[in-house]
Amino acid sequence: MDDFSISLSIFLFIYCIAGTVAYPELLPHKANPQPHDFPNEKLYRSYLVIQRFKSTVTSDPKNVTATWTGNDICGETTYVGFHCGALPGRDNQLTVTKIILNGYSLHAPKLQGFVDQIPDLALFHAASNNFGGDIPRLVGLGYLYKLNARSDLPLHPQDRYGGQVGVNPQFKSQCLTATINFTFHFGIPGGKGRQIPGVTDAKALLLNHNNLSGPLPLDLGFSKLSYLAVANNKLTGPIPSSIGHLQDSLFEVLLLNNQLSGCLPHELGMLNKAAVIDASMNQLTGPIPASFSCLSSVEQLNLGGNRLYGQVPDVLCKLAGPAGRLANLTLSGNYFTSVAPACAALIKDGVLDVKNNCIPGLANQRRPAECAAFQSQPKTCPAATTQVACPAAPAAPPGERNAIRDYSSYVTYATLHD
Ligand SMILES: *[C@@H]1O[C@H](CO)[C@@H](O)[C@H](O)[C@H]1NC(C)=O
Ligand SMILES: *[C@@H]1O[C@H](CO)[C@@H](O)[C@H](O)[C@H]1NC(C)=O
Ligand SMILES: *[C@@H]1O[C@H](CO)[C@@H](O)[C@H](O)[C@H]1NC(C)=O
Ligand SMILES: *[C@@H]1O[C@H](CO)[C@@H](O)[C@H](O)[C@H]1NC(C)=O
Repeated sequence: MDDFSISLSIFLFIYCIAGTVAYPELLPHKANPQPHDFPNEKLYRSYLVIQRFKSTVTSDPKNVTATWTGNDICGETTYVGFHCGALPGRDNQLTVTKIILNGYSLHAPKLQGFVDQIPDLALFHAASNNFGGDIPRLVGLGYLYKLNARSDLPLHPQDRYGGQVGVNPQFKSQCLTATINFTFHFGIPGGKGRQIPGVTDAKALLLNHNNLSGPLPLDLGFSKLSYLAVANNKLTGPIPSSIGHLQDSLFEVLLLNNQLSGCLPHELGMLNKAAVIDASMNQLTGPIPASFSCLSSVEQLNLGGNRLYGQVPDVLCKLAGPAGRLANLTLSGNYFTSVAPACAALIKDGVLDVKNNCIPGLANQRRPAECAAFQSQPKTCPAATTQVACPAAPAAPPGERNAIRDYSSYVTYATLHD
């Protein structure tokens, strides 16, 4: 994992802060750095948040938190894992913009009070640690929130901060926008990177391979995330229907290998900019909602290893033709009982995998007794409706339609293996 790094350059930041972070309660001792030791107030507040988090770290085999001391948060050798940037429009003040704690094997009981309290964070990448607790309340991240995106949403500081935190009026209504280039370096450090350029407003939360538990936050959809990767954790509960509100921002979402349950939500089909949706190896159930016909950007759709049933619909398989960009549809290990006509060619071409289902006439299916046992259980999910209004489709970049991309060219899949 050391031979892989992700870097992120923040090119221009414009976003609207709807209130900001809490003032941490920690009071510094005399010997500790004081506010005037920091270039600006935000770095001082980040310092307090980092120190508070550091005190909760129970295991640090690489001794990385030993560098989290003093006032030089943005230094080259101090505060390993923390990276600063200057945001134009704010007098070029330095602020913490990314935290990369990959592979340090840190143990800490939770990330709440840490990742949700660093004021200008755009990237949090901490795969392969042992962070527990719930997913940090993403909507609490003022900086991840574009206030003017949807003015119809209620914005109560109490809701967003659990009722216990004040809002600093000084930071209200600052408008900024972000364009972020994600660059991946494989092999030796400094090697040639692959860049995913010019993603506007990109925010990324990459927390694969941790010990996160509890449900996905109900307000997940109001986070403005572009990349969400929480594969290989212990998350439970449903995929929140608010996820549909990420239709303008979410490019990739990895939920695989958790314990998510409940019906596959209709709103997942509203993610018409998403190229990757992988919710495989969970306990999701229900038919594929008709809204999945709206996934006109999806290239990798993996719902294998769940408890899905009904028919694999024509509209979904047509996304691999002129209606979309689908290159890989994995539905193996479910309880589907039929495939629509448009799907037959995809099975033949190896684009659609329906192994280990309950489809009569196809090879490699479940045993009839297994299928009968599942079918006899009560089904409570809504039926797949026939009509659906899709959000306005994004224009597909020319020349990329149905191009089969290497897995490492997807931000989240690339980070899954580090
Ligand atoms: C961790 O780092 C600190 C400060 O650099 C050093 O004093 C300490 O001996 C180190 N501990 C281990 C276990 O390497
Ligand atoms: C982001 O990528 C684009 C296209 O490759 C490039 O023109 C731009 O300069 C990059 N921005 C930064 C901050 O690296
Ligand atoms: C993971 O979190 C659970 C609580 O959800 C805890 O009991 C367990 O010890 C944690 N696992 C590790 C390896 O720390
Ligand atoms: C499709 O995706 C699955 C799951 O990610 C992967 O195992 C499989 O190799 C992929 N198939 C193709 C043809 O790329």
